[in-house]
Amino acid sequence: MSHRKNDGLLGEPWRVGVLFSRSGFMALIEETQYRGTMIAIEEINARGGVNGREIVPVVYDPASDNALFRSQARRMLTEEGLSTIFGCYTSSSRKSVLPVVERLNGLLWYPTLYEGFEFSPNIIYTGAAPNQNSMALCEYLVENYGSRFYFVGSDYVYPRESNRIMRELVAERGGQVVGERYVPLNARRQDFFAVMHDIKRQMPDVIFSTVVGSATVLLYQTYHDFGLNPANMPIASLTTTEAEIRAMGCDVGEGHLTAAPYFQSISNSRNDNFVRRYRARYGEDEATNMCVEAAYFQVHMFARALECANTLDTDVLRPMVLGQSFEAPQGEVRIDPKCSHTNVWSRIGRATRSGQFEILRQSLSPVLADPYLIAARAAV
Ligand code: ACM
Repeated sequence: MSHRKNDGLLGEPWRVGVLFSRSGFMALIEETQYRGTMIAIEEINARGGVNGREIVPVVYDPASDNALFRSQARRMLTEEGLSTIFGCYTSSSRKSVLPVVERLNGLLWYPTLYEGFEFSPNIIYTGAAPNQNSMALCEYLVENYGSRFYFVGSDYVYPRESNRIMRELVAERGGQVVGERYVPLNARRQDFFAVMHDIKRQMPDVIFSTVVGSATVLLYQTYHDFGLNPANMPIASLTTTEAEIRAMGCDVGEGHLTAAPYFQSISNSRNDNFVRRYRARYGEDEATNMCVEAAYFQVHMFARALECANTLDTDVLRPMVLGQSFEAPQGEVRIDPKCSHTNVWSRIGRATRSGQFEILRQSLSPVLADPYLIAARAAV
């Protein structure tokens, strides 16, 4: 068992790392994850902290740079003496941090949907895996728009792996992928011109986008500028949230589709309170999204586990995390003790002119995490 600075005298704060890009091309969405983390910490501290001790965030800005994610995570776990980190949006940043938390026995709480097919005893995954978003989205698209898909993505691990899975799902439904293009993570507007010309040539039934960050805004704006119509050929995504829709312009985003565990428009009292607190803290015009929500509820789940463990030592804390349930704004969620992924809800939303999502379809209960698509494959 390690003897870190955090496990000192009664009354000393619980120091935790917060590692989201607050600058660079991923800040558009990662800043909201930072906010979700901070709101939860503030709520917990307002009611007296955990076992009488305040949570103190140690905040770094890795600036959308994977090398900085890795070096800052290492600094947190060594020089800062931390063991728990809340952080990462892109799968490439998570994969940069993974060997550091494994080697130094930290615990990374990762609040972002991703491509699945990963397990680390040093990561708690609280976003959706493909069986919780891609499968429902594919089904909905084939039923409502058709089975000729076009893939456009940012060029890194999540889009390439997510497209590999989506290609299989489309094929299982008798469909085909008529184009697949990638743009740089920090793409410029003109990077999307050739993509749009190709889409106009192919005229697919649906565009599946795995573009992330600020480039998302450019993709949808270019689509709009090229005169394409979401009523006939929507862009469908797992990553385009209320944050990106606001940034691109609600008129540009209107009619496009996203699959996610959470939308701000969910109607329940827990979510109403969450949205009210978020707006009170960050501005009445601000919107929540699936990434804020996961960042928020995972801190609350951490605090519950910490209350039982009364130490930040990963070896003691982690068993308290596994199997935990929490009444989150999306509904009840649970961390599956077998795979350290979270049972989350599956929803499909269509963006409206007000920048919110109208929920078109949702699961009746949380969908069991199946990051290796084992149960999903057995069912085919
Ligand atoms: C992602 O890179 N996991 C969205």
